[in-house]
Amino acid sequence: MKAYTRNLLAVLAIILLFTACASEQQLEEIIQQSEEETASLEESTPAEEPVGALPGLPDDVAGYTQWLKLNAEPIPPLGGGDPHNGTKNVYVNQTRDTIAPNGTQEFPYPEGSIVIKEATRPGKDYIGLIAIMRKKAGTDPDQNDWKFIEYVRNAADAEFSIIAQDRICWGCHAQVKDIDYVFTELD
Ligand code: HEC
Repeated sequence: MKAYTRNLLAVLAIILLFTACASEQQLEEIIQQSEEETASLEESTPAEEPVGALPGLPDDVAGYTQWLKLNAEPIPPLGGGDPHNGTKNVYVNQTRDTIAPNGTQEFPYPEGSIVIKEATRPGKDYIGLIAIMRKKAGTDPDQNDWKFIEYVRNAADAEFSIIAQDRICWGCHAQVKDIDYVFTELD
């Protein structure tokens, strides 16, 4: 090999090495940057939590989408007149360990439990119904001390308002008295 070819190769090798280093460094910078971005996104999540901002709902259910979800898959509308018409998710303010200490769910729910169901109405893209069950000792021993209340709204930016509570809800929910009035079991 001629000397100048060797030199050329050496120069090429150095250039290659340099670009490799440079791009590795760039990559590191990009990774670091995106890590920082993710971190700042995570930091800002609580403030941006949409549920906290759902207007017209009580404060004790703010951020409920971060609670334990009972259903693994969204619950589709029931055929033949769904009492809570829509595609539904059910959350509870308890941990899996508390309500299913040995892997299977145990009943009744502990005092202070809040079970909340959100429903997206068929053909809509916002939550139009919120149904809540709150367990408070002594409030209603005949219904396992559950208080029932339901809210609805008809626009994505509208306030929720109360549509029904307690008595109208018992009839159906008492059908599942053996699992503490809550139809949806932990998946
Ligand atoms: C006609 C029967 C019926 C009536 C009336 C009814 N529910 Fe339900 N509810 C159900 C069924 C069935 C489910 C199971 C999940 C589903 O498919 O929506 C349910 C689910 C729920 C859930 C989620 C926890 C669970 O049980 O799975 C809440 C919370 C709830 N209902 C609250 C209410 C409230 C509040 C009222 C009264 C305003 C009410 N329900 C009236 C039948 C009824």
